[in-house]
Amino acid sequence: MTFVVIILSYLIGCFPSGLVLGKLFYKKDIRNFGSGNLGATNTFRVLGKKAGFIVMFLDIFKGFIVVFFPIWFNLDIPSIFIGMCAVVGHVFPVFLKFRGGKAVATSAGAVLGVHPILLIVLAIIFFAILFLTKYVSLSSMVAATFCVIGAIIIGDIPFLVISIAIFIILFVRHRSNIVRIFKGNEPKIKWM
Ligand code: G3P
Repeated sequence: MTFVVIILSYLIGCFPSGLVLGKLFYKKDIRNFGSGNLGATNTFRVLGKKAGFIVMFLDIFKGFIVVFFPIWFNLDIPSIFIGMCAVVGHVFPVFLKFRGGKAVATSAGAVLGVHPILLIVLAIIFFAILFLTKYVSLSSMVAATFCVIGAIIIGDIPFLVISIAIFIILFVRHRSNIVRIFKGNEPKIKWM
């Protein structure tokens, strides 16, 4: 059963909400516009606020829902490990030649399900950095860093292991953003 839940969670994570929404309702493949990313930020950028919020909600939901599977299916596995399966699916979707998103929203959903208070703290940090810099990517990376610090403070070892894994994946997936930030040509959000 554990194996089935791992695969199911990975497949839920694979669902490319930004791509599906863009193709179905806007006749646009968001991979060909903006940063080319499949995530909520690029959906906001390319398709607008309404689509951006829907994709953000769906991507958060992917990570959130799966962390309850170990409870529902009575599995002896830390919830955050199952959350990580959805994050892996989101970042490396089998249906899109393993080229997916940047791990932010789906990871946030998993953290929300496991440590909701920490997620509130991370959201405050995220929006503070976003307000100051207007860079979603930088705000995401700072929040991921504080997630590791939060995991150390909480003392939840499985959560710390996954936080470090997410931190690494998230930074690797943001390497083009990091280069653009240093060059000064990373796009800033316009609506904050
Ligand atoms: O949601 C990922 C975000 O941190 C950066 O996205 O499209 O600006 O590369 P993007």
